[in-house]
Amino acid sequence: VDALNGPLEAVEWVGDERGYLKILDQTRLPASVEVIECRDLETVREAIRSLRVRGAPAIGIAGAYGLIVGLQADAGLPGEDVRERVARTSRALRACRPTAVNLFAYLDRLESVAAVPGAASDSGLPARLFAEARRIDAENRDACEAMARHGAALIEDGWGVITHCNTGGLATAGIGTALGVLIRAHEDGKRLRVFADETRPLLQGARLTTLELRRAGVDVTLICDSAAARVLHERRADAVFLGADRIASNGDVANKIGTYSLAVNAAAHGIPFFVVAPTSTIDAALENGDAIPIEERRPDEVATWQGEPIAPPEVAVYNPAFDVTPHRYVSAIVTERGVLRPPFRESIAAALEPART
Ligand code: MRU
Repeated sequence: VDALNGPLEAVEWVGDERGYLKILDQTRLPASVEVIECRDLETVREAIRSLRVRGAPAIGIAGAYGLIVGLQADAGLPGEDVRERVARTSRALRACRPTAVNLFAYLDRLESVAAVPGAASDSGLPARLFAEARRIDAENRDACEAMARHGAALIEDGWGVITHCNTGGLATAGIGTALGVLIRAHEDGKRLRVFADETRPLLQGARLTTLELRRAGVDVTLICDSAAARVLHERRADAVFLGADRIASNGDVANKIGTYSLAVNAAAHGIPFFVVAPTSTIDAALENGDAIPIEERRPDEVATWQGEPIAPPEVAVYNPAFDVTPHRYVSAIVTERGVLRPPFRESIAAALEPART
């Protein structure tokens, strides 16, 4: 299958609750399209840890289905009831990546299905857990549509836009978050030129974002992360649109490393900085971004290139995978419930209120 033309589904469940999970191996893109069949917990965990599946919502959805896969083959430890078995499997999945909150939010939902009174003796529990995972998947697809609609309305004909990392269909169950907005604006007939940061060190921008935008027919130009300030200075960009892995209740945004410097650069040039994320990416328990756990990854992701060293042996490397952008640099947060503006503490709290009927 050719990555530019064939189907690309990040996470796909096959069959009913006794079925299995298919994960597209994004580490192989764009060179080849390879799908991993996950029939045990370890395969799902390895896929999340190695970024075969990545992007906040997609990690969470893979985790939710991963719980179903993990329970299928697990008879339980001696003396363990089903609720404890669910909690143990969930813990193993939660340990895979720390920053994106969707994984934790979705696993919380599955654990609460197992926590209802009588669940432990209910033979229908696997089907109900599976139905919840399906619901999470479908809700994210719908949220992407709504974000695309709200966000596209912000874009003007003829704009240049910088984006960072990958926030498209590969990172979600639907059209994407920030990329969904850009693709929808293009579909609405707006002329758009996107500058995609390559996104060091794992190149999600170069490998995945340019691929997805070309598949959608959007004009895309690849730049080094460090070229963004130059692009802003040259007035080639009118806005920045990107995603988030976790948003604190004051609007501080954790996202792929490099986001913070892009935000500061955008502010210095008077360019609006838009974050696009479903409300499931908001961690209402966090006062601000200081408490967001930032994943640190292996030194060789920075110190090697295609397996070859690009630095002297054993050089010290610091490789944080995410950073936190203070809310003062964020112009708006586009969610499925609408566009949130500063002051974010108020607008986020209002967006999280249960819908009144
Ligand atoms: O390390 P990754 O590739 O999982 O990081 C992904 C990002 O930082 C995305 O910008 C974020 O998850 C939003 S995806 C809709």
